[in-house]
Amino acid sequence: MRVPLVPPPASAVGRVNACCEGPLSAFINLERISKSFGTFKVVDDLDLEIAKGEFLSLLGPSGSGKTTILMMLAGFVEPSSGAITLEGKRIDHLPAHRRNMGVVFQNYALFPHMTVAENVAFPLVMRGVSKTEAAERVARAIDMVQLTHIKDRKPAQLSGGQQQRVALTRALVFEPNVVLMDEPLGALDKQLREHMQLELRELHRRLGLTIVFVTHDQGEALTMSNRIAVFNAGQIEQLASPEAIYDHPETRFVAEFIGETNMFAGKVEARDGARTKIRLDAGPMVEAYLTTEFASGAAALVSVRPERVGLSETSNAANAMPVKVLDTVYQGDHMRVRLAGSGVEMVAKVDRKTRAWAVGAEAFATFNPDECTVIAP
Ligand SMILES: Nc1ncnc2c1ncn2[C@@H]1O[C@H](COP(=O)(O)OP(=O)(O)OP(=O)(O)O)[C@@H](O)[C@H]1O
Ligand SMILES: [Mg+2]
Repeated sequence: MRVPLVPPPASAVGRVNACCEGPLSAFINLERISKSFGTFKVVDDLDLEIAKGEFLSLLGPSGSGKTTILMMLAGFVEPSSGAITLEGKRIDHLPAHRRNMGVVFQNYALFPHMTVAENVAFPLVMRGVSKTEAAERVARAIDMVQLTHIKDRKPAQLSGGQQQRVALTRALVFEPNVVLMDEPLGALDKQLREHMQLELRELHRRLGLTIVFVTHDQGEALTMSNRIAVFNAGQIEQLASPEAIYDHPETRFVAEFIGETNMFAGKVEARDGARTKIRLDAGPMVEAYLTTEFASGAAALVSVRPERVGLSETSNAANAMPVKVLDTVYQGDHMRVRLAGSGVEMVAKVDRKTRAWAVGAEAFATFNPDECTVIAP
């Protein structure tokens, strides 16, 4: 599957990002990459273009091949077939140290016997950079992530977040072409993790870095990325902006993996531009937004996010199904309402302020055709 390279939204990246100036070309290109371990195919005929300056997340369940792809980019694992190019030049036969890629793993892997400054200096020492120049660059890099006050400490004397920052600095100090990160925030608690997400976003923006970021946390991917590649069993299910992935998932897997969704089975009736009418198996006719081609009569699923479902006393909306309130749960910033009627069940997240819905109340569940998506079953 060939997925077009789209520029990251200008709002999501800083002006230093080369990706937003001039025409886009693939900076890194994976062409028809496959990887098998024994007879087990972990990555299957993968095509992926990465733009300079973009923050690309690889998102997918455990075992879907994310780490394997990162390891092939880094040069620690050799593809079984296919080509990897960097600015048009083949790199898949180059050893890791000649690819000029910074790598950050989940468990940091700092050298315990070295100080922060020595850890950060390590890649420069390995590359034969002179002592004075290395000292200067280390000082600058450590200052950039605000670790100067702890530069003489050993890793054991640092918090998890500080260790993570040191690992990141060590991956950046030699000015790599690209930074590869494998669940770098996985070991941190929620609060620190969210703080580091913002910090990493800011660093990406400020330095115009190209980042390939592996995570299985969908919220993290939505927060951080210019584009998200959703993986399932070694293949890309969808590659698009966070907004497109969330609002218009193209497959059932993507719709269910990212966030929560209501799913109704039906058949495509009549198409009208980007919208189509679907006769649900349960009876009602609904109108929905179309991202891919469907033949009329084809079986389809309509996916609607719970926060896109409204509750109303009247039926004057494009999609309005008579339902009964089964259950309401207070969730702080919204009410979670379970509904059944018209042969379907669904969940709505509704504003607490609009109205308190009693269990057993009759209402219309409404949703905008442009805010739901038709996908293949
Ligand atoms: N060296 C290896 N030898 C044999 N099988 C391997 C090897 N490395 C990975 N695999 C298998 O390949 C599949 C993909 O592994 P990979 O580590 O890429 O998944 P992942 O998407 O990173 O998962 P997670 O989210 O759990 O880290 C898994 O089934 C794994 O067991
Ligand atoms: Mg992994």
